[in-house]
Amino acid sequence: MVKVSPSLLSADFANLGKDVREISDMGADFLHIDVMDGSFVPNITIGPGVIKSIKKYSQVPFIAHLMVDHPERTASSFAGAGSDYITVHIESKGDVTQSLKIIRESGKKAGMAINPPTPFSKIEKYLPLLDIVLIMTVNPGWAGQKFMPEAAKKIREARRVIDDERLTTLIEVDGGINADTGRICVDHGVDILAAGSSIFGAPDRKKALDELKSL
Ligand code: DX5
Ligand code: ZN
Repeated sequence: MVKVSPSLLSADFANLGKDVREISDMGADFLHIDVMDGSFVPNITIGPGVIKSIKKYSQVPFIAHLMVDHPERTASSFAGAGSDYITVHIESKGDVTQSLKIIRESGKKAGMAINPPTPFSKIEKYLPLLDIVLIMTVNPGWAGQKFMPEAAKKIREARRVIDDERLTTLIEVDGGINADTGRICVDHGVDILAAGSSIFGAPDRKKALDELKSL
């Protein structure tokens, strides 16, 4: 069954601990934490200090989605703060190979994210080093954007390569995921749905989460 990773970007930042506890107790499989640095993307969100503070509110594994340049400079801080998975962007400035090495040497699971315009072939050589490949279904930067249906082909391609090479890398998607777009992703072979506004913005969060989990 598909796993669901609520994106905290759409949670209430004034009550983050409460939202983290609530969504974890409701059965989230992972928590997706969007880190933006004002350089790789224009927006600025949260850093290791916040991750460390919310860690005590949840037993669910944290996936830190680093939308930052030079992730090799900060990956170890995100590991120390309690991220279980750390995902860096192939498009970021800096040294992604070194970043993956730092993540693994910190005892954490490593992920690589890929933006909509970047062809999947760019990350193929990294696959054996990856626990997660994060396929962006919007251009990163903000919550609440529209799912880009052309990403479905990339999910299918990732599924094929991972299965052909008998790898255990999980495929996660992120951006504009709701019950309809999530269905498309599941049909194309995704393992984890990250979703922000469709869960935290729903009148009944538990219902929205359960609906995604049942796809
Ligand atoms: C976008 C972030 C996403 C975002 C998802 O740059 O990486 O994780 O929070 O939010 P929704 O589900 O609202 O598109
Ligand atoms: Zn994200």
